[in-house]
Amino acid sequence: MYTIAVLPGDGIGPEVMKEAIKVLRVIGDLDSLVFSFQYADVGGCAIDKHGEALPRETEDLCYKADAVLFGSVGGPKWDKLPPNQQPERAALLALRRKLSLYANLRPVIIYPQLARLSPLRLDIAQKSCDILIIRELSSGIYFGMPKKRSKKEAIDTMYYSAEQIRRIAHLAFQAATTRNKSLCSVDKANVLETMVLWREIIEEVSSDYPHVTYTHLYVDNAAMQLIKDPSQFDVLLCGNLFGDILSDEAAMISGSMGLLPSASLSTKSSPTGSFGLYEPAGGSAPDIAEKGIANPMAQILSAALMLRHSFKKNKLAIIIERAVQETLKIKLPADLCTQKECAATTVEIGNTVVEKIREIFPHSFPK
Ligand code: NAD
Ligand code: IPM
Ligand code: MN
Repeated sequence: MYTIAVLPGDGIGPEVMKEAIKVLRVIGDLDSLVFSFQYADVGGCAIDKHGEALPRETEDLCYKADAVLFGSVGGPKWDKLPPNQQPERAALLALRRKLSLYANLRPVIIYPQLARLSPLRLDIAQKSCDILIIRELSSGIYFGMPKKRSKKEAIDTMYYSAEQIRRIAHLAFQAATTRNKSLCSVDKANVLETMVLWREIIEEVSSDYPHVTYTHLYVDNAAMQLIKDPSQFDVLLCGNLFGDILSDEAAMISGSMGLLPSASLSTKSSPTGSFGLYEPAGGSAPDIAEKGIANPMAQILSAALMLRHSFKKNKLAIIIERAVQETLKIKLPADLCTQKECAATTVEIGNTVVEKIREIFPHSFPK
């Protein structure tokens, strides 16, 4: 039995989470897996109910679980709170720190047959693009000390230790080894001291992986190259802030924010693989919340990443990913539609993914 801490959170979080759980239940039947879904409040809704964004019982549930499936947190309702009490910092960043989540994987894929969904020119989008963005998640300017703010000035500190860089570099080179053996490291070594160290350590680690072609780009150039020709990248390794920004850009290249899942892997392992938190790369999307039109695919694909990385069920992850691709051929949620009338609802997309899973494995299902 796998115990999953389910934290739907705010905005579209609960809507898209429902569809991901629906998919997991079906996939569980397929492979006779038992999932125990343990729900808890997190983010703004936890502030409203319990007075804090990360209640003790939510935190404890995450420690006890085999993996965490996370929706999204935040929204205008909580934007006026003191910054350290807001959902993003008090819940999401706190969980990343407490659960030692250091490696954030964001796979960006444009399937040639779905290239028309990309806002890029068709001739560019049609060159198939399969990028794994690996974002360092535990350090950098997000967590560096000191942080200070007064009426007159404010300070954030960009910090990286050699060890933090080495740790993510090994993970990225190992990922490249199992893919197309090409890694591009993104930095700003022409300006920032932390990024000079970043480049030095990446170069040092690269010598352990002679079969991986290694390049580096300054982040401004990388942002441009992603639009110019995303097919040139295989593994794209970034620090915390640059990875945050480039992954939103890359999500849009594949069609929408609503398509990009993520896996945040811990330094700790679980009995079945890496312990991890799995969440869409996008946020709570307050502009479309409670309308039933959010795209649940990023959440569903995050559940697939959980099966792959925490439960070592790669085959089941592939089934879900294929079912999502098949769904995209026949039904599109609003964020991927050019005309409003063709849009399928959140629930319709979830149901279609389930149907596609059943079609892919017609004989494996109990009657
Ligand atoms: P956002 O990602 O929530 O939304 C940006 C745009 O993308 C919006 O137009 C939204 O409608 C669209 N979008 C995002 N996900 C979508 C989906 N699944 N289906 C269809 N459209 C989708 O970013 P934002 O507006 O900058 O942030 C809103 C709130 O979410 C903020 O409070 C922010 O801090 C928070 N946030 C949370 C997380 C998280 O919990 N992991 C991540 C990013 C932002
Ligand atoms: C993400 C989000 C978070 C981040 C915010 C909500 C703290 O944008 O996961 O990409 O900046 O890491
Ligand atoms: Mn982000």
